[in-house]
Amino acid sequence: MTRSVVLGCGSYLPSRVLTNGELAQTVDTSDDWIVQRTGIHERRIAATGELTSDLALHAARAALAHAKVDAQSIDLIVLATSTPDHTFPASAVSVQAGLGITQGAAFDLQAVCSGFVYALATVDGLLRTGMFKRALVVGAETFSRILDWKDRTTCVLFGDGAGAAVLEASNASVGIESVVLHSEGSKGDLLMIQAGGAKMPATAQTLELGQHFITMAGGEVFKLAVKSMADAAEEALTEAGLGLDDIALMIPHQANVRIIEGVAKRLHFPMDRVFVNIQRYGNTSAASIPIAICEAEATGRLRRGDKVLLVAFGGGFTWGASVLEWFGAHDGARPAGVLERARDTLEDVVERVRPA
Ligand code: ACO
Repeated sequence: MTRSVVLGCGSYLPSRVLTNGELAQTVDTSDDWIVQRTGIHERRIAATGELTSDLALHAARAALAHAKVDAQSIDLIVLATSTPDHTFPASAVSVQAGLGITQGAAFDLQAVCSGFVYALATVDGLLRTGMFKRALVVGAETFSRILDWKDRTTCVLFGDGAGAAVLEASNASVGIESVVLHSEGSKGDLLMIQAGGAKMPATAQTLELGQHFITMAGGEVFKLAVKSMADAAEEALTEAGLGLDDIALMIPHQANVRIIEGVAKRLHFPMDRVFVNIQRYGNTSAASIPIAICEAEATGRLRRGDKVLLVAFGGGFTWGASVLEWFGAHDGARPAGVLERARDTLEDVVERVRPA
């Protein structure tokens, strides 16, 4: 049976760090509030002129280098993003051009914070058909461009970043073992951007009313996220014929450390086998899972042969989960340039989120 195997991963975070303390100087919030309610200490912000496709390109190059494969061997690029450079053409095509690739296909996929799991499922399906041989799956976002920096209920939560993985069709028994996807559109307005699309094109009035920014009913999103992610995790495990005891590491979408803890609690899954790096980057939407995968791999939390559970929830609403057996680079190398920014441990995080 053909499986999709992850051969390498890469990530990129803009250099500008925005701390809670800095935010507290511009909106009515505090480091304490943000840390207690979300687990976030700081986030990265893209530089002026730095685009989602730029972040994606950096992450893609890092993933190719980790996998030690040539860009010219890639025949499919799927970029999950809700913050594309343009309405069209797709940012994936810019990444393809940036890599100098002129063959194969490239397209964007929009499932908000579930985007990476959706992209993984799409690529897995396409690789299994034999239509493509080797793919780049990327999650990249510049949410800093769609936030109302005067709205303390949303601007403290998000950050910019990108992560990528190289996947290959293989007859080996490792790789993606299951993927489940769900969506439900009736509550889409709980987390959305009103204006700027074809329904409500941007006008002076929509700008004046700030309707081109994210709005969110945080409490309701929170509850739905916990239940949906836990349900999807169980479903993906059943699909893979595995139990939670088989899972070496759960890598959830990093939206809020309390959501992550809620999912783990609901599943009776120990937090020491859950990867958390939200403290450094906030919620990077579709980029959060691939950034986390890369850090887990770089810090030795993820090892060849480990069964990994990915789980996500996002606007739409969309949610999903995937179980895979980790392979990583053929030569066992760790992704470069990641360790420097990922030194803190889970114990540090828990201590900082929950001071005695
Ligand atoms: N600083 C200080 N006070 C704040 C801030 C802030 N940044 N934001 C809100 N508050 C205030 C509120 O105004 C409210 O004040 P009030 O009681 O006087 O009205 C008080 O804090 C409590 O607000 P709640 O909304 O009840 O706080 P809650 O504990 O629910 O935390 C949060 C809010 C962090 C948004 C939480 O609901 C959450 O994380 N929801 C999930 C949202 C999310 O992650 N969305 C991302 C997209 S979906 C996804 O990725 C899963």
